[in-house]
Amino acid sequence: MESIIITGATSGIGFECAMQMAKIAPNDQIVIACRNLVSGNKVTQNIKQKTGHKNLICMLLDLESLQSVREFATQFSKQPNNKIIALINNAGIQNVAETQFTKEGFEVTFGVNHLATTYLTLLLLPLMDSNASITFTASGTHDPKQKTGMEPPIFKSASELAHPTETNEKRMAVGQRRYTTSKLCNILTTYELQRKLSETNIRVNAFDPGFVPGTGLARNYPPFLRFISNKILPVLRFFVHNVNTAPVSGKRLANLAYADQYKNYKGKYFEGAKEIKSSTDSYNKEYQDILWTSTIGLLKIKQDETSVQLA
Ligand SMILES: NC(=O)c1ccc[n+]([C@@H]2O[C@H](COP(=O)([O-])OP(=O)(O)OC[C@H]3O[C@@H](n4cnc5c(N)ncnc54)[C@H](OP(=O)(O)O)[C@@H]3O)[C@@H](O)[C@H]2O)c1
Repeated sequence: MESIIITGATSGIGFECAMQMAKIAPNDQIVIACRNLVSGNKVTQNIKQKTGHKNLICMLLDLESLQSVREFATQFSKQPNNKIIALINNAGIQNVAETQFTKEGFEVTFGVNHLATTYLTLLLLPLMDSNASITFTASGTHDPKQKTGMEPPIFKSASELAHPTETNEKRMAVGQRRYTTSKLCNILTTYELQRKLSETNIRVNAFDPGFVPGTGLARNYPPFLRFISNKILPVLRFFVHNVNTAPVSGKRLANLAYADQYKNYKGKYFEGAKEIKSSTDSYNKEYQDILWTSTIGLLKIKQDETSVQLA
């Protein structure tokens, strides 16, 4: 039995992804990697009851702490089913309130969505099955051409994004830009990591769930905007392209990571179930390289921490 690790499965898209995974992967272990074991256990019980899957566990992982990421990787490696067939990097936040920092002092949106997620991926590489998949939940908001109404990303090196200088701009604009930039980073990392794993059969892809109103993502938006997001915007799915419910997006995410029909896709970007092009910036090799090198620098990863040889 191998393991499927899903981050951010205590709510929203990740929860629905775990539910679908329990249906399509009855013979593999599903690991709900969560920062709150009480919620994690509830989710685990709920999915077991609804699907009959017997091998779901939850393990502690707080992406606001690199130490917690290291501890998760160590604990996971010690448990019996420690070969990974799929890693789904789905956890993510959007902070539009005042700037917050991770335990190690990195700006929190970048710290959780990119830095800790990339660190987790690198630490788990030695445990990957030779046919494993790594899937990043990104977002169409990374692409200005998609006109999502969000502030467009501005690419900078990892150290600049981790330690931003404060400006007089509105918090909403700053928070949204940090979010869309972190999602651009997910895609730049997808492409760079796939290139570095080109000698292997591990596949790395990025996934845009579309706009999924009503999840916890808007949790620190002002109450009025939260109300609109939870109660009004869900109706948009009947009229507007790429607006989805969490069950639809979660199912697509699980399928992309695990179903046979996606096994030949490497280094691709998906809008829902369909492969499309990501933004122009995301294909910029210089950005990919700068982000990779500066991320490794911030994480202080030594090459020998990962047994897969990274070119
Ligand atoms: N909703 C959308 O419209 C939309 C659109 C495009 C992309 N996305 C992406 O989809 C992904 C899932 O978002 P969602 O909409 O489903 O939002 P959500 O309901 O808020 O789910 C986010 C998940 O991430 C987890 N998480 C947050 N911070 C964490 C941390 N420090 N350590 C570990 N786990 C943490 C949350 O756990 P807790 O329960 O402990 O908070 C939760 O399970 C995100 O990457 C988001 O960027 C969403």
